[in-house]
Amino acid sequence: MSSHFVPGPTYDGWLPGLDSLCYGGDYNPEHWSEEVWHEDVTLMREAGVNLVSVGMWNWVLLEPREGEFDFSYLDRLLDLLNENGVKVALGTPTAVPPAWFFRAYPDSRVVNSTGTVMAPGSRGMAAPTSPDYRRLAKRIATKLAERYANHPAVALWHIHNEYGAPVNWDFSVHAQRAFPKWLATKYGTLDALNHAWGTTFWGQVYMEWDEICLPSATPTVVNPAQKLDFARFCDAMLRECYVMERDAIREFSDLPATTNFMAIACPGTDLFAWGKEVDIVSNDHYLWAADPRNYIGLAMAADLTRSVAGGKPWMLLEHSTSAVNWQERNVAKQPGEELRNAASHLGRGADAIMFFQWRASLSGAEKFHSAMVPHAGTDSRVWREVVELGKTLTALEPMRGSRTEAKVALLWDQESLWAQGTQWHPTVDAQGLERMQTFYERLWRDGITTDFAHPGQDLTKYKLVIAPASYLLTKESAANLTEYVRGGGTLLVSYFSGIVDEHDRIHAGGFMSPLREVLGVWIEEFLPLRAGDTLRILDLERPEPKAATSRPADFVLTGTVWADHLRLDGAQVQATYADGPLPGGAAITRNELGEGKGWYLSTQLCVDDLAPLMERVYVDSGLWTSGLPDGVEMIRRIADDALYTIAINHTDMPFSMMVADGHVDLLDNTPVGAGLLIPAKGVRMVRKPLTD
Ligand code: GAL
Repeated sequence: MSSHFVPGPTYDGWLPGLDSLCYGGDYNPEHWSEEVWHEDVTLMREAGVNLVSVGMWNWVLLEPREGEFDFSYLDRLLDLLNENGVKVALGTPTAVPPAWFFRAYPDSRVVNSTGTVMAPGSRGMAAPTSPDYRRLAKRIATKLAERYANHPAVALWHIHNEYGAPVNWDFSVHAQRAFPKWLATKYGTLDALNHAWGTTFWGQVYMEWDEICLPSATPTVVNPAQKLDFARFCDAMLRECYVMERDAIREFSDLPATTNFMAIACPGTDLFAWGKEVDIVSNDHYLWAADPRNYIGLAMAADLTRSVAGGKPWMLLEHSTSAVNWQERNVAKQPGEELRNAASHLGRGADAIMFFQWRASLSGAEKFHSAMVPHAGTDSRVWREVVELGKTLTALEPMRGSRTEAKVALLWDQESLWAQGTQWHPTVDAQGLERMQTFYERLWRDGITTDFAHPGQDLTKYKLVIAPASYLLTKESAANLTEYVRGGGTLLVSYFSGIVDEHDRIHAGGFMSPLREVLGVWIEEFLPLRAGDTLRILDLERPEPKAATSRPADFVLTGTVWADHLRLDGAQVQATYADGPLPGGAAITRNELGEGKGWYLSTQLCVDDLAPLMERVYVDSGLWTSGLPDGVEMIRRIADDALYTIAINHTDMPFSMMVADGHVDLLDNTPVGAGLLIPAKGVRMVRKPLTD
């Protein structure tokens, strides 16, 4: 047993043997002859690649028949990479059990909610609750650790691939056996479960544990508390698989372990829970090609990843050099776009910039996916940009280990998103993730770097906490928010928050009752709108315009989706409804509690209409907008001895930004004057030494 390794979120190290930013990608050389491998390592050196992920798809190569192992391919590959100074994130291949596995253990196939059994011939997890899957996954992970724990090329364990994709919910016989057991451990008694799930409703009371079924297709709506627990169960089963492999590896190896998350893109995984199990947080991110402003989604995923990492540097394990192949229209990246993407990830705390994949595949489902070495070869824009990015990362070396800090947090609780996704709610239009995105975009446009935080965590370091969609909010978390405000914080809560507890039971005392003290309001009734209806909202305070983003003083805002019949209990009304279901009713309120303020927004505003509200919330919080034009992004990383500024211009116009004296361009080491020119679609990265 390895003795001195400190695992999990307390791990403060980086990849052993890699005292640098990491650069590289998924490397799948099994598609190619060994001659090509030699060309690959030469090109890797040319591009400055120092880390590749290998082995994630190699189960059948390493164990061609059950119990027969052959590591000769991996031995040769790791030796070659080592000889060429390329480190390895060694994958465990447990996302692709071989065809022999599914033939031998057909009941280990994943089953969907309507009972369809998923066939092999693709990829994706076997049923995570299958004892045979677990046994053989543990064995192959153990074999790899035994053999390669001390191989000089290996710097990191890359366990599995994207847990939760492509299959998150599994309705197999094994899941059916495991679910009641998991519930019994969670609740202890059936009385406790029946109470938590409210099973007296519709006569669902359970008298025996094995009466409880998975929430597969049901005649009408399934019990929402059952569904919420099923989401927790599925996530927990995947995490058990991860922990099982990690611990098997730890028996032999002191190297850190990770698994690649898909922040925002994988709604089945509770990332804050996963973050506690990995030594280094890593993420995969792919642009949504249909969205011309997809760089905001990128920034959001990167900020969430950093938050899951507790602010520590993290790894971007996959993104693409150009187009992906799995969207409806796979738009190629424009020249320079890849650098802008990488810069945003770096600015938001990534210390590794990696791609899927090194060399484009000739066959298989991903043959149209871009790569570092594209089908066109090295006489190509993509390759030239890959080489250029390698050089850039070498120049950015001093930045490694520095931290991105935020003064604002958006509350993110996957359990709340799961609960909000259940059926028969007041309106289908109140989408939790969409509201998170709207608030995030507002902050992004205002140039305010944002963390994501769990409502139960210590929030005192933030000046402003926003709850765009905290539908499920425990009493303890609500008390945490109340104390945060009492102590001087500013809280902004948007509608349909603080409604249910951890069992999806409405808080006794009325909607949002746990937030009544901090917000100084209570809700008599929800007043959701018909599809497409809007509400006019009159601002009573009419603030003086403070910045270019300010609206004229007598603005009218437009609400959609929702209104509340709000009742006051200490708060002051900031804006009222001019029409809609309750003309004259309070739309926006502000409450003072202790040293802080609690704001409530009882409707949905678009990104533009959030601006005048946020201006005043920023004033309460002591925050400033950056004043940068829309489309110019600026992020800071801080080290003990220097401040790093990463400026990205997504627009077609050059922009000059004022910076303090003493900044030096990281790429060419030249001093920067007072005006930092960021070319159209360009990136600037500068460093300012910090002296005492
Ligand atoms: C990721 C996956 C990779 C590759 C990539 C394509 O989700 O981990 O193996 O499929 O997508 O964009």
